[in-house]
Amino acid sequence: MKQSLNFNWSFIFDFKKEYLTSMPENSLKVNIPHVVKEVPYNYFDEKCYQGVSTYEKIFDVDHFDKDKTYLLNFGAFMLQADIYLNNVLLGHFVSLYNPISIDVSKFIKEKDNRLVVVLDSKEDPLLPPFGYAVDYLTFGGIYREVELEILPKSYIKNIYVHGDISGKTQVYFDKVGTITNFKYQVLEDDMVLFESNGKGFTIERPRLWSLRDPYLYTMRIFADDEIYEVKYGYRDVKFKRDGFYLNREKVKLIGLNRHQLYPFVGPAMPKSMQEDDAIKLKELGVNIIRTSHYPQSEHFLNKCDELGLLVIDEIPGWQHIGKEDRWREQYYENVSSMVLKERNHPCLVAYGVRIDESMDDHDLYSKGNKLAHNLDPYRMTIGVRNVPNSELLEDIYGYNDFTCSDLKVGLKNPKKVTKEKAPILITEYMGHMRPNKPTSDIELQRHVALRHARVIDDCFKYDTLSGCIGWCFVDYYTHVDFGTGDHICYHGVMDMYRNKKLSASTYEAQQDIVPVMEILSNLRPGDYQEATYQDIYINTNCDYVLLYKNEELVGSFVPDKKHYKYMKHPPIYIDDIMGQTFNDDRFNEKERKNIAKIFSYAGIYGFGHLPLNYKLKMSMIALKHHLNWDQIMEIWNKHISSWGGKALSFTFKGIKNNKSVIEKSVYPSLSFHYEVNTPRKELIIGDTYDVLPIQVRFLDQNNTLMNYASRVIEVSTSGPIEIIGGNTHSLLNGQITLYVRSSDIKGKAKVTIKTDLGNIEVPLTVK
Ligand code: GAL
Repeated sequence: MKQSLNFNWSFIFDFKKEYLTSMPENSLKVNIPHVVKEVPYNYFDEKCYQGVSTYEKIFDVDHFDKDKTYLLNFGAFMLQADIYLNNVLLGHFVSLYNPISIDVSKFIKEKDNRLVVVLDSKEDPLLPPFGYAVDYLTFGGIYREVELEILPKSYIKNIYVHGDISGKTQVYFDKVGTITNFKYQVLEDDMVLFESNGKGFTIERPRLWSLRDPYLYTMRIFADDEIYEVKYGYRDVKFKRDGFYLNREKVKLIGLNRHQLYPFVGPAMPKSMQEDDAIKLKELGVNIIRTSHYPQSEHFLNKCDELGLLVIDEIPGWQHIGKEDRWREQYYENVSSMVLKERNHPCLVAYGVRIDESMDDHDLYSKGNKLAHNLDPYRMTIGVRNVPNSELLEDIYGYNDFTCSDLKVGLKNPKKVTKEKAPILITEYMGHMRPNKPTSDIELQRHVALRHARVIDDCFKYDTLSGCIGWCFVDYYTHVDFGTGDHICYHGVMDMYRNKKLSASTYEAQQDIVPVMEILSNLRPGDYQEATYQDIYINTNCDYVLLYKNEELVGSFVPDKKHYKYMKHPPIYIDDIMGQTFNDDRFNEKERKNIAKIFSYAGIYGFGHLPLNYKLKMSMIALKHHLNWDQIMEIWNKHISSWGGKALSFTFKGIKNNKSVIEKSVYPSLSFHYEVNTPRKELIIGDTYDVLPIQVRFLDQNNTLMNYASRVIEVSTSGPIEIIGGNTHSLLNGQITLYVRSSDIKGKAKVTIKTDLGNIEVPLTVK
């Protein structure tokens, strides 16, 4: 049984000895997950959350029974704390990203328990990830949920059920005290499928856990009088020298790295928002996530189990290995804690046991690998480095490949990565090689989107590579030493508010479940040099795309297999914006095609950039037809020129299996409106409060995002909710997400968004 302890804590960002007896009057009422200091979206002092704070929770125990075991479980707090219960110091605990469980049976009472956590969130060089520079912020606070777990005097913990493709099942756990009778039941869709008295058995033809059908069974364990239940899956996972295999089928892994940080509150987001990230990643079409660079929320991992999203976890760290015994002890603690927390997740395919991009350390990593293998004999380990040919103690050579510096080369030849006969997985690429902000010029965003495609293409080219995991999912808070000096690394394919940049579509276009067509251009010549169009690309999973200009068909365009030979859905390059719309019968068909090609080139790149052979061809046509300059300009003005002239419209139709499956148009933007999207209209109070994202977008009459809009919106609320980060927000790139937070109070609520075009009301229910 569990009793959650997340609501109604007293908190003060300060510590005085007298707070151990009673909290001061100016302490605040807060709920967990919590950060000691909310920060702005950017530009702040990263020292602002580094200090000592005091949390107090007064609670009664439901159905108190002195013969039970009471475990006080913290999901995680950043970073270390003295914890007191009823004036007894329970100890000093280092959590960082690890759960902490304390047996408080001796100190707990039925009524008026007083729990005090004196939390130190100062970066401590004796604990990983600290000791040198770290490219992410850690924040401070009790940022994952707290609960009281009530168990019999003797109980089991750390349950792990391993099921393989043949139905072989093995149950592991640690026993505390004496338990004599065990029984195991396998549940399929809530029905008992199999029963056993032993921890190892085989079930027949299990429904496998896979990317498309991530089926989860339930293991019910009877241990004397207590019943425990965990979800698990049957699947085979193997990284081999020639690639990655899931259920004995080779799968190319394409994924993204995830930092757990959200605007304002960093890691302190409840269940629904942790799940939301997994949903967004699945929708992006990726099949693997690396939880760089620390273990992440159980809610996130549970959702990955449910959705069929593979995960590689990783111990906390960043490049630096401490020499001090304390630092190294904590590294071992971090490995064990991560494996015990995460080994029961079928989504997890390997343990990241090496500090990201650290140098070799034979002793540390030999022991780290052994620890992981001892706690889980089935899963492989991975070590991530950014240098080739370093000492390989893990099962998989993880390599951060930052080769891609332009659109020509994506990845290093894997033969040059390691001489060892080992599986290789590319664990990062892009990132700092070309950051782009949500507000960056569309040309830069297009370039970054194509660079991601370049790498993915190379990943398919090198057949033996297990896959590639891009840097990264969303922009993240970082130390002042990194990024742009405003505390953000703009490396995400989405911004920190989880709104897409153009590079997100490179990933979306690689799946075949929903049609995707993203035009990597706004088709506004005034936005590009010499009032041209520059490279027009489309990310799509369609077979081909039909382009219409002012409702007239220009032509059809197919994926660029010449430059992107290996990936499933290469981008489409549009090299003709005149095509069939040019039907001037003064010219024969061949001449018409040539004129369209030459004028398109000039329209796309500028007259001054016409290649010599185009200039010669055009001169010959002009000579033959006695065209003077004015007549040439007449054709140009009618078919190409738009800057300062009549604005053009473009429509793209995506065709798949001979059917038109998706359509996008770009018209002159004439009238505007706001669009408001929420995944649901309810906030649901469970073990703690809930948060709901409300996306606000500024669109034109054709529903195209007006990415240069930076208008300010004022938000007000009624009912038991508030907006994280305050009530005034400006659009970032024509859009922003508002995060609505509940408390423990239920009822009707309303968000009113005051815009320059009037008020928008979003009625909500807190249940
Ligand atoms: C890598 C590092 C990541 C991040 C990335 C930025 O070297 O592993 O954590 O800093 O660079 O591109």
